[in-house]
This record gives sequence, structure tokens and C-alpha cells, in this order.
Amino acid sequence: MSTFQAPKGTYDLIPPKSGVTLAVREAIAAPLKNSGYGYIETPGFENVELFSRGVGESTDIVSKEMYAFETKGGTKLALRPEGTASVLRAALQANLHKLGNLPVKLWYSGSYYRYERPQAGRYRHFSQVGAEAIGAEDPALDAELIILADQAYRSLGLRQFRILLNSLGDKECRPVYRDALQGFLRALELDEDTRRRIEINPLRILDDKRDAVQKQLAGAPMLRDYLCDACKAYHEEVRELLTAAGVTYEDDEKLVRGLDYYTRTTFEFVHDGLGSQSAVGGGGRYDGLSEMIGGPALPSVGWALGVDRTVLALEAEGIELELPATTSVFAVPLGEEARRVLFALVTELRRAGVAADFSYGGKGLKGAMKSANRSGARYTLVAGERDLAEGVVQLKDMESGEQTPVALVDAVNAIRERLA
Ligand code: HAM
Repeated sequence: MSTFQAPKGTYDLIPPKSGVTLAVREAIAAPLKNSGYGYIETPGFENVELFSRGVGESTDIVSKEMYAFETKGGTKLALRPEGTASVLRAALQANLHKLGNLPVKLWYSGSYYRYERPQAGRYRHFSQVGAEAIGAEDPALDAELIILADQAYRSLGLRQFRILLNSLGDKECRPVYRDALQGFLRALELDEDTRRRIEINPLRILDDKRDAVQKQLAGAPMLRDYLCDACKAYHEEVRELLTAAGVTYEDDEKLVRGLDYYTRTTFEFVHDGLGSQSAVGGGGRYDGLSEMIGGPALPSVGWALGVDRTVLALEAEGIELELPATTSVFAVPLGEEARRVLFALVTELRRAGVAADFSYGGKGLKGAMKSANRSGARYTLVAGERDLAEGVVQLKDMESGEQTPVALVDAVNAIRERLA
């Protein structure tokens, strides 16, 4: 063991389990790639103000959880706590919205950082795959994103997840509701911290998990009763499109989400096998974010799915993904001459698209066969001096144990045929 360990709240991805993480990322990305979303990658850190303005000064993410630092040159940066503000910043910077083809549809995959109290499913470094559709106000776009996330989870075999759906209203109706809610909350018995919240972020109090708070919230004004006609009609259409697509969801009037940029549609994917960190993904519409970070009006919608929690959800449902074989053929040379010949053969196999590996480090037959077993290879290629003299290599079927000599000149084809 080294003197060092992975920092608190982080963990390493190690084979073979790391293969599951890769497969999850690919499964989430596949429906996006198939639906007109282009890949975008942005830096791991950004100007700190992008997040304080975008995600919101009053959110836990910005006020408590952001890894913010000053560079030697005096620039204030932050490790990205989420992807939406960065992706929108990059799209604006590249003028993607001016190319006359709205919405700009983008997907991304990467690491995010939040200084949270670590627990199962909650890490300080975690991984998301996300999608943003920038520059269009169309309920079909909100529905598309929810349908694609549902498709991604289903393609992984997940079944015990639920989709919670809400509308947070827009700049017309939400302020009216906010006032009404603040009036209601100010009359309650709440601790100092929560009282402060009434003034800066009252909607988040609806989300408070404590019984003592929840009890007092019975009878609180609900946003549903304050939605303006435009927001109501928009939300109704999202709901109808989801139903028509066969996607089941639950209306959750208390779903607020922890980021300030949301307007209208908000949703969360929760998994029932995960305990307290049950949100596997979430997102919504953010019609005002572009203006908040200095851009033009660009109504947009998106989501991010947590890769770490999706892996935990697979475990909770006992789903074992069928991962592509890492090694199909493992070569075991006996002697110097065989080493050269089999190394050349492995190179040829790889160039022909066969996953092949080689026994390195001059191991004897026993040690090399152990490596072959561990590699999970379907076939082992063994050759010694006598085989080479006869122009053959021995192809051992690792399942049946059967061994057949194959002509060296024809080995690549013979192996490909067997693997097909
Ligand atoms: P979020 O709900 O903060 O949304 O994060 C999305 C997902 O990332 C969560 O549902 C969860 O699975 C995962 N996640 C968040 N924090 C952690 C953590 N500390 N440890 C492990 N997993 C975590 C956003 O980030 C928005 N940017 C989503 C979005 C995109 N909205 C519009 N477009």
C-alpha cells in the first residue's frame, strides 16, 4: 500500500467494476447520440461567478459545496459542481445559438465536484452524463429529454425507478407564489437557519426532510394553484406527450430541486433501492439562465444523470450488465522463438479487431496459464519449439479444455471464424 489514499469522499474505479461504469455512460449517451445531440466537453473548472450567478448564491451547491480557489494570478475559479452553466457558457462563447439551427442539442459526460458530507451514493467527486437543448421553448423538447432518460435507464434493465414531475412556473407567476409562500412560512415555528431561508430561497423549505417542518407545511400554498395560464398549458402538454409515449410519471408538487435556474418543467428520476440518496438524475427547464450569465434570451431544458448512483441502482436491482469480453485470445509462448512468433500473431489479431493479450514477463507454462484463466479469454494460443517446427500453434478452448493445432499461416482467420 502507498502512503496515500484517495481523498475523503472519492473512490477509484478499478477493473473489472470500472467496466460497468463505462457501460453505464455509454448506455445513457446512446439514445442522445441517436436523437441529434452533439458531444461537448468543457473545462473541469470555470470562473467562480458563472456558478454563483447561474446556479444561485443561495443554493447549498454554491454557498456550501463549491470547491472555489484563487489562482496564483488572482483569478477566482471553481471546480465545476454541475454541467449546465458551463455548457451554456461554452455554447454562447462559440455562438452556437447564432448558427440558425435552434435548439442546439448537446450531451456531455464528465466529473463534477461538490464538498458534501460523504455517504453511500454521495461523493465529493462524482460523474454525470448530461444533455442540454438550448434555445427553444417547446414542450416536446422537455418530453423528449425525459423520454430519452427513461429509455437509457430501461436499456440498462432498470425498472425500480420513478419519474417525479413538477412545474416551477415562470417569471410571471413564480414571484406571486413566492410572496404567498413567504407570508405563510413567516408565521411558522422555525429555527434560525430556516427562517433565513424564507427570505432567500423559500421554495427549498418545501423540500425540508425534517418531520417537524413537514408537519407545519400542511396547508402551505402550492405553486400549482398559482401557475399562470401559459405555464399551465405548457405543463399539461409535457404531461400529455409523456403519457402518449408510454412514460409513467408522478406529479410531485413539492419537487423543487437544488439549483436556482429552473423555470417551468422540473423532474427527478428516483430509484427506490438507494436509500436516502435516491435521486439518480434530474433536470428541467431553465429559460432565464442565459440572461443570468450575460447572454441573450435562450429558453432551454436539460438533465444530468448521476453515473455513480446509476451503478448503485443496478446493484440494488441485482442487474449484471453483459460487458464486452476484454480478452478473447491469450497467447502463451514457450521459449524465445515462440515469444517472437506469438507476439507477432497477437499484433496481427489485434489489427484484425480480435481482443488479444500476451503472457509478459517470461512466465513459465503454469504461471502463464493462470494469467490466461484470469484474463477470461475464450481461447489460449500455446506454442513451443516443436509446434513452430511443424508450422502450427495450439488453440485451446478454455471452456471445453479441447486443444487443436492450427496452421500458423491461417491462424488469424481460423480464430476469427471460431469467435464469430
Ligand atoms: P443535480 O440534481 O444537482 O442536477 O445532479 C444530477 C445528478 O447527479 C443527481 O441526480 C445525482 O444522481 C448526481 N449527483 C449529484 N451530486 C452528487 C454527489 N455528491 N454524489 C454522487 N452523485 C451526485 C444537476 O447537476 C443539473 N445540472 C442537471 C440539469 C441539466 N438541469 C438542467 N440541465
